Amino acid sequence: MTDNTLPTCLIDGEEVPFTPGQTLIQAATAAGKYIPHLCWHPDFAAHGSCKICTVKADGRFGAACTIEARAGMTVENRTTELDDKRRTLLQLLFVEGNHFCPSCEKSGNCLLQATAYEVGMMSPHFDHFYPDRPVDASHPDVLLDFNRCIMCELCVRASRDVDGKNIFALSGRGIKSHLIVNSESGRIKDTDFSAGDRAAEVCPVGVILKKRVGFAVPIGGRKYDVSPVSAQVGAQAPTREEA
Ligand code: FES
Repeated sequence: MTDNTLPTCLIDGEEVPFTPGQTLIQAATAAGKYIPHLCWHPDFAAHGSCKICTVKADGRFGAACTIEARAGMTVENRTTELDDKRRTLLQLLFVEGNHFCPSCEKSGNCLLQATAYEVGMMSPHFDHFYPDRPVDASHPDVLLDFNRCIMCELCVRASRDVDGKNIFALSGRGIKSHLIVNSESGRIKDTDFSAGDRAAEVCPVGVILKKRVGFAVPIGGRKYDVSPVSAQVGAQAPTREEA
């Protein structure tokens, strides 16, 4: 039931109530409205890096995960113009990493893949970079494939802010940016990382994968195979049980 005492903004012509201080994406999510996103997660502070959540708020482009909702604000979200821009950003992410969905264990549970389907991305469009970052299979329970990282820093935030371990970080600049592991050897086995950590659950793509559970749920029956991401508002990376 809508609380009539709350201020409202207008998202794609629909009135959306919000609590003062909420961002547009928080208000939209609470109202069951989907704003495409990758680096935002409801349990973490906004990161504002992927720009997939870009909307037009009162005529100006901005990231919905960082803009506070204001009474009477008019927001465009799922317009052709904005989904075109999102598609281009997604294409850039796809060619920057090695996102070969048919051979990826995260297929069907991957927010990048699901978002690409959602905005109708049919091809990568740009030339592939084919990064060659060594996979780290040193941990007994977890495999890291750095070639799929989209630099959302969710694992960085989860490890630092929830697990209190500070195991992940980004290093380098621009095209040289990449995820690193905080140990002298640079390998995950030399940290106190555990498959039960929040950081092990939060990766929206296929970088952090648990061993011995691969394909437990067959492709075709996974989270985003069953229904599109826009029909699962508030859903994020699958939990351990779903993975
Ligand atoms: Fe808002 Fe990534 S979800 S910038």
